Amino acid sequence: MVRTIEWRADRVRMIDQRLLPAAEVVRVYHDYRQISRAIKEMVIRGAPAIGVAAAMGAALGIRGYHGRRALARFAAVSAALKATRPTAVNLSWALARMERVLSENVGLDAERLFRRMRAEALSICREDIAANRALGRHGASLLGDRVTVMTHCNAGALATAGYGTALGVVRAAREAGKTVRVIVGETRPFLQGSRLTAWEMRKERIAVTIIADGAAGYVLKRGGVDCVIVGADRIAANGDVANKIGTYSLALLARHHGVPFYVAAPFSSVDFSCPGGERIPIEERPAAELTRLGARPSAPHGAAVYNPAFDVTPAELVTAVITERGVAYPPFARSLAALAEALPPLPPTQHS
Ligand code: MRU
Repeated sequence: MVRTIEWRADRVRMIDQRLLPAAEVVRVYHDYRQISRAIKEMVIRGAPAIGVAAAMGAALGIRGYHGRRALARFAAVSAALKATRPTAVNLSWALARMERVLSENVGLDAERLFRRMRAEALSICREDIAANRALGRHGASLLGDRVTVMTHCNAGALATAGYGTALGVVRAAREAGKTVRVIVGETRPFLQGSRLTAWEMRKERIAVTIIADGAAGYVLKRGGVDCVIVGADRIAANGDVANKIGTYSLALLARHHGVPFYVAAPFSSVDFSCPGGERIPIEERPAAELTRLGARPSAPHGAAVYNPAFDVTPAELVTAVITERGVAYPPFARSLAALAEALPPLPPTQHS
């Protein structure tokens, strides 16, 4: 399985997702500022993956500090990491977890405090893979033996610590002996669908067909798509889902054509402090993503550009939310809250 992000010899290594599939280049970082820039510039992207990156960045950021100076330092480090990408709740969720560990261990000397923070970041990373495998199994049980899944963007191993969410369901279905075919929209403008999802699927010899984003309606109308499965950057308490721009259009098309629309996400993507989708901050990306194709201009100089990176799919268009704790069905306010209460015991945190 592709290594999206890895901690090795107190350096953070990430595959540079801007260059895939043309080149597999691993970047190595030793400083939280470098990691902030990597998140902002999308060397690493995908909600759970940037949560892991932020946690590792926070551990590096407080190295050499202890006591009250560590708390002050963490505040600055965390603010810088949080400011990178506002929509994915996993980023602030991971930093909140790091902050709790810091405040519980602030009395340790600097080296032991760093090791404790490093252990927490590594737990977040490991737990994400375990959550994806579990939600993958839940999701696979919803699929038939021969199935065509339409997806959007990349909610795969590259978007997580590993295995993936929407593509985790695809992987689990395959592991369960099912025959799965994937259809993915290019996902303009960053092309996560054609560059990253197709790359992951090809690596594992899972059949994948790329379509232009605008072809989704035609393909759904022709028939043969059994379900749509997407990831999520944030799920509000009422089940509204923020995900890659274009997800909302796909959900409307799926509803119109009677195709189930599933959202696969770890429980860390559910934001109970956010009652509904209108409260989810939507990141706007630079205009150049829409006006240039590589070095070439693809739009006339001076044209106004609006480039929201995410949209919000209302809960009423979502058939089910697939999580590692189980599958939530409408009404989501009730079913997500029930899954939150039925807490499985947390895996033991490992200390070094
Ligand atoms: O802008 P990106 O590439 O970070 O957006 C990613 C998505 O929208 C994914 O679908 C989402 O983060 C879920 S990833 C498991």
